[in-house]
Amino acid sequence: MRTAIVFIIGLFLFGCGSEGISPADTAYVFQQPSNFPPATYTFENNPVTKDRFELGRALFYDPVLSADSTIACANCHQQVRSFSDPVHKFSKGVNDVSGFRNAPAIQNMAFQAHFFWDGGVNHLDFVPINAITSEIEMAESLSHVVTKLSRSDVYREKFENAFGTGEVSSQKMLYALSQFMNMMISADSRYDRYIRHEGETLTADEAAGMKLFATKCSTCHATDMFTDGTFRNNGLNETFAQDSGRARVTESADDRGKFKVPSLRNAELTFPYMHDGRFRTLQEVLNHYAHSVKESETLDPALKQNGALGIVMTDDEKAKIILYIKTLTDRNFTNDKRFSNPFLN
Ligand code: HEC
Ligand code: HEC
Repeated sequence: MRTAIVFIIGLFLFGCGSEGISPADTAYVFQQPSNFPPATYTFENNPVTKDRFELGRALFYDPVLSADSTIACANCHQQVRSFSDPVHKFSKGVNDVSGFRNAPAIQNMAFQAHFFWDGGVNHLDFVPINAITSEIEMAESLSHVVTKLSRSDVYREKFENAFGTGEVSSQKMLYALSQFMNMMISADSRYDRYIRHEGETLTADEAAGMKLFATKCSTCHATDMFTDGTFRNNGLNETFAQDSGRARVTESADDRGKFKVPSLRNAELTFPYMHDGRFRTLQEVLNHYAHSVKESETLDPALKQNGALGIVMTDDEKAKIILYIKTLTDRNFTNDKRFSNPFLN
């Protein structure tokens, strides 16, 4: 008999624990980390179950979603790199077509309100539509994906188990992908265990980095999400002809050159950095903030204080901030078998 999985909001699991729920069940329950803000995803419409999660997982790793069956979501979003792209500065889609942005990490999506560097999509369920239909990604149509999946006995069975009917539809496909991504929660770094008083300590240098980060970086990389969820210009460019960022969505000149403040969780792993993947290392990123912030009409005021561009930091301070950022690395997440390629086990 199939195990019934109950969707339980937060509180219940963290802290007062798991009376009556075996570990096998909790693996597919959405767990709200106590140091995170409330989830933004509306689970009422799409409660997590193991079968839906597993369907989403199969879809995520299956190149059948692309026009020529060569590219899966996982090609550009690899677990070892917290589901970002370790290889390409700009992502590469079908027929080796180059995109114009760096693939961001997929982690803690359930807590995010805007998706893509410019916030062009505001619900997780719609993200895969862009990925599947985009000419620079999978270049396929939703209806053709549905046709291809309907031909497969394996998928019809998975849809049946997940939704009670073997009929494949794009809505169900999107729900399943969202469930898989919603469960991708990274909240088990050394930082998290330290902040939740779970017996972890930070070294003196890491703790010093934490203080420096709070004064120099946390205006934008705020809260335990390490982003305030806003769109800002952090001084990469003087002009925005290449990519106007948020202005592509709002068509407002005031938004030119603004991009979503990315979370810095697992930043040790998610290189190359920035929307255009221009920096290879955290050292280069810190050098940017210290020495090469560029003036423009939309440059964030936080990066121009008392008329001086950038953030004042010594080399020693930069090094400590980098050590601190590395405490956000969560190998339990990048090694979590639940999120691995199901076609390889
Ligand atoms: C060819 C590479 C490629 C493929 C294939 C791909 N993505 Fe992406 N993904 C990207 C890039 C690049 C972005 C950023 C796009 C932008 O900001 O304009 C992105 C953004 C995202 C985001 C938003 C993350 C955030 O923080 O805003 C999610 C979620 C996502 N992709 C999920 C998927 C899923 C699910 C699939 C498969 C259906 C998929 N991607 C396929 C390259 C890819
Ligand atoms: C004014 C707001 C602001 C401040 C202050 C700020 N950042 Fe950022 N940060 C951003 C934005 C916006 C981006 C994305 C820019 C883009 O890609 O165009 C970003 C990107 C990054 C990235 C790349 C992440 C990725 O996944 O590509 C790192 C690392 C980073 N910042 C670290 C820092 C550190 C360390 C500090 C403090 C020294 C800092 N930031 C201060 C707004 C800010």
